[in-house]
Amino acid sequence: MTRYGPDECDVLIVGGGGAGLRAAIAVAETDPTLRVAVASKVYPMRSHTVSAEGGSAGVIKSNDSIEEHIYDTISGGDWLCDQDAVEAFVNEAPKELLRMEHWGCPWSREPDGQVAVRSFGGMKNKRTWYAADKTGFHMLHTLFQTSLKYEPVKRYDEYFVTSLLVDDGRCQGVLALEMATGQLHTIAAKSVILCTGGFGKAFPFTTNANIKTGDGVALAYRAGVALKDMEFVQYHPTGLPFTGILITEATRAEGGFLLNKDDYRYLQDYNLGEPKPEPVLRTMELGPRDRLSQAFEQERLKGRTIKGPYGDYVHLDLRHLGEQHINERLPMVRELCLKYEKIDPVTECIPVRPVVHYTMGGIHTDIMGATNVAGVYAAGEAACVSINGANRLGSNSLTELLVFGARAGQAAAAYAKESPDFSPRLQALADDAAQDIEKTWIAPRSKRSKDTIAGIRKELHNQMENGAGIYRDAKSLQTARETVLELQERAQHVALQDTSYTFNTELTAAIELRNLLELSSAIIESALQRTESRGSHQRTDHPKRDDEKFMAHSLAYRTEYGTAPRIEYAPVTITRWPPKERVYG
Ligand code: FUM
Repeated sequence: MTRYGPDECDVLIVGGGGAGLRAAIAVAETDPTLRVAVASKVYPMRSHTVSAEGGSAGVIKSNDSIEEHIYDTISGGDWLCDQDAVEAFVNEAPKELLRMEHWGCPWSREPDGQVAVRSFGGMKNKRTWYAADKTGFHMLHTLFQTSLKYEPVKRYDEYFVTSLLVDDGRCQGVLALEMATGQLHTIAAKSVILCTGGFGKAFPFTTNANIKTGDGVALAYRAGVALKDMEFVQYHPTGLPFTGILITEATRAEGGFLLNKDDYRYLQDYNLGEPKPEPVLRTMELGPRDRLSQAFEQERLKGRTIKGPYGDYVHLDLRHLGEQHINERLPMVRELCLKYEKIDPVTECIPVRPVVHYTMGGIHTDIMGATNVAGVYAAGEAACVSINGANRLGSNSLTELLVFGARAGQAAAAYAKESPDFSPRLQALADDAAQDIEKTWIAPRSKRSKDTIAGIRKELHNQMENGAGIYRDAKSLQTARETVLELQERAQHVALQDTSYTFNTELTAAIELRNLLELSSAIIESALQRTESRGSHQRTDHPKRDDEKFMAHSLAYRTEYGTAPRIEYAPVTITRWPPKERVYG
C-alpha cells in the first residue's frame, strides 16, 4: 500500500453531501484565496442527501412566525434542544432557502407563483418548502452545481478518510485511502470539517443508504471529541417493510391515513388530535415521529398490526388523494411503490413500518460547528449542535445542513487563516496512522477466522433493534452492551479475503463495521445511563421524563477499543422557553 506525500489545503471537508458542499461554498465565499478541498467516499451526487424527499423547513408565509417555528422545534425535541442554537437556526433558515432558490433550486410553486409550502409532522404551520417529493435530489444538485463555480474547491472523490492527524491538540489533516488504487494519501489541512452524515446503518431496517456508517463521527470520537446525545435515534413511522425505503411524511401532509389491520385510523387513540376528513395541521398522522413510531409498537403489542414476511406492518392509504394529485405531489412515492413493492398507491394501500431514519446524536459541537479538538469542525447529521434534542421534526434537517454547513465553513475558514504552520511531525503522524491501517487490516489478510463482516454486522443489527430500539429497558440494553463489546473484539480478528488494491470494498466495509460497532457502544451506554423517557428514548423501566436529573446532554468519551465509553453530562441551554409538557392535537 504505497503512501503519497502531503497534499495541502487550508480547509478540508470530509463528506460531499449537502452539509459538506454548503460548507465548501461558505469557505470559498469567505475568502477566495483559501484552498478548500472536499474528500468523499462517494461521488458527491451519490451522497445520502440525494434521497431526502419531503422538504426543508423555513418560515416564509405571513401567517407563520419565527417564534412558532422555534417553539415547535423545541417542544418536538422534548426540551433537549439548545435554544440559542434553535433561535439561530430558525432565524437563518429563510435566508438560506431563498439563497438556494437563487442558486437554481426548483422549489414547487403555488398557482400564483409563490413558493409552495406543505405541512410536516409536529409543525403547527405550513412551512416546509419542497420540490415535489425529490427535495434532497434538487437541493444536492443545486449545491453541487454551485460548488463547481468556485475554482478553489478541489475534490477527492472516492477517497475514504481513515484517520484525523492530530498533533499537540490541533488537527492538521487526514490520512485517506484512494479507493480506486488502494493508495494512502496524506492531506494536510489547517482545519477539517466532518460532514459524513449519521449512522443509521447500525440498525437492520433503515431508510439510510449503505454509506451511512458514521465514519466522520467515529473519526472525531477516536480523536478525543465527545459524542453528544447518542441515545436519541429516530424511527420514521413509514418505511417499506423489507428495504426500509422511505415513504415520505409528505404522503401524510398531502392527506394520507395510517390504518391498522382492521382498517381503523388507530392514531386517534394516541392523543394526537381528532380524525378529520381533510388533511389538517397538527393532528394524528401529522404528529411527531417518535409518538407515531411508539403508537405503531403499541398496536403491534395489541395484535392489531399486519403480519408480513419482514415483520409487522400497517397500511398507508393514499387512494382518496386521486391519481392526478399523487402524480403531481408524490411522483417518487408512486415510482418507489411500483418498483419495490409492485403496488400502485393510486389503487392500493402501501405497507409501512417504523424504520431507523436519523441519529439526533453525534459530534459535540458549539453553535459554529467547532469541537473541543482545535481545527475539527462538524455539520449536518454527523454533528449534534443541538437543534434536534430528543426528537427531530421532519424537514428541519435539510435546512440544518444549510445553516450549520455555512456556519461551520465560515468558522473553519477563520480558524485556518489564523492557524500556524503545519507541525514538522505531520509526516511521522501520517506514517503511524498508515502503519496502523496496515497492521489492523492489511497484514491479517491471509488469516482465517470463522467470523465474517456480514455475520458480525447481522448480529449487531439484531442487538440494536432488540436492545436499543423504539422501546428499551435496562435488561435489553445490558444484553446489547455485552454483545456489542464482544463483537468489537471479534471484529478485530476478521480476515479479509479480497487481496486486491482496486476498489477493495471488503477493506472499507471492515473499517465501516468497526465504526458502527464503536458508535453502537456509545448509543447503548448513553441509553443505559439515561434512566428516564424523553422523545425517541423510551425506557419501559423509567417511563417518565425526569427534568431534575436529565435536562442535560449526555457526552460519551471514548475509552479503550472494546470497552464502554465514559458518560458525562452537560447543561441544556434554555433561553426563553422553560420546559413544559409536550402536547399535540
Ligand atoms: O419523510 C420525509 O420526507 C423525511 C424528511 C426528513 O426527515 O426531514
